[in-house]
Amino acid sequence: MLNVVVLVSGGGTNLQAIIDAVEAGKITNVRLAGVISNNKNAYALERAKKHGIAGTCISPKDFDSRAEFNEKFLKAVDEMHPDLIVLAGFLVVIPPEMIARYRNQMINIHPSLIPAFCGTGYYGLRVHEAALARGVKVAGATVHFVDEGTDTGPILLQKAVSVEQDDTPEILQRRVMEQAEWRILPQAIDLIANGRVSVEDGKVRIR
Ligand code: GAR
Repeated sequence: MLNVVVLVSGGGTNLQAIIDAVEAGKITNVRLAGVISNNKNAYALERAKKHGIAGTCISPKDFDSRAEFNEKFLKAVDEMHPDLIVLAGFLVVIPPEMIARYRNQMINIHPSLIPAFCGTGYYGLRVHEAALARGVKVAGATVHFVDEGTDTGPILLQKAVSVEQDDTPEILQRRVMEQAEWRILPQAIDLIANGRVSVEDGKVRIR
């Protein structure tokens, strides 16, 4: 059984997709060990509670320095003994020590086809605003391993979604979630949990 810890900041629809996939048996070999949010009002924490998953909040706002937050945050994660950490809409910069400790054991979902519309400043609705401003015809989502850069780690899964003529950022965001994010994030977790993923020379191989 792979112990999975999910980090969230907001609504938690990706967390819900993971919970639903575990409960439906679409993700196997996984135990959801806990959910950590940087925002105590995140609806994601409610979702965790409803499904009997331990949830906790740890916010940079509650500490005098980022170093102090990073230390407590890493401790909270370590105490859940994760084999895999899933960033499901988590908007806090991951401490370098945590990236090193959980190399190739931490994945992120990003709402674009990386390397488009990613990196610093591209998160949530902003990604879709930028995609529409550029007039792209294809959008999508990416699951990747987390490395020291922003959205630069080895790519595990991607799924394309079409952009329609009259899309607003909100409409496009919803389509990308429904048709891409909520599918490839659970799928990625299942692949990892069943030992089918390896990283070689910075690239992912799936067996
Ligand atoms: C999702 O669209 C996710 O891809 C995005 O935040 C949203 C969280 O929604 N993540 C990023 O932009 C990371 N750079 P959720 O809380 O409903 O899962």
